[in-house]
Amino acid sequence: MAQDGTPRGLTSNAVCAVSLSPPLLLFCLNKKSTTLPAILDTRAFVVNFLAAGRGDLATRFASPSVDRFLGTRWEPSQIAMGAPILVDDNVAHAECSLSQAVEAGDHFVLIGHIEAASSNGGTPLMYLRQTYAAWPDQEPGPRDEDIHG
Ligand SMILES: Cc1cc2nc3c(=O)[nH]c(=O)nc-3n(C[C@H](O)[C@H](O)[C@H](O)COP(=O)(O)O)c2cc1C
Repeated sequence: MAQDGTPRGLTSNAVCAVSLSPPLLLFCLNKKSTTLPAILDTRAFVVNFLAAGRGDLATRFASPSVDRFLGTRWEPSQIAMGAPILVDDNVAHAECSLSQAVEAGDHFVLIGHIEAASSNGGTPLMYLRQTYAAWPDQEPGPRDEDIHG
């Protein structure tokens, strides 16, 4: 959330679990990002794990000079300093306080302490080979059969 009350957000696939105790995650953000100042100012952010079928939203949130939140319902996180929760478009979200910002090349590695999280059990959007891909057949494959005997 920017200081003027404007919601900010971008698409990132450089998201990774870090620690269970305490619960930490990270994501990598380009130093030139226009979203970065809002995160550093508030020391808070939300990770919205987009649902399958929301590739258009991921494309919009990666595009400069568009209103990324137009037509998208969001709520300000009470925990993460108003950072936007995309209530209709995520399968899970994590509300984080910024624990560390580590410089790494042309990016910052932003480590978030997960203060609250929610999952609705839907299917997440998958990004594979530079496109938003469908998930493979949910039937168990040979490897699963091996594991389960
Ligand atoms: C699938 C996908 C994944 C991306 N992952 C990242 C990422 O992990 N970190 C990053 O800094 N930019 C990433 N980008 C690029 C940003 O979304 C894009 O540069 C965006 O315009 C940055 O917005 P901002 O400058 O307003 O913060 C990704 C783009 C796409 C399409």
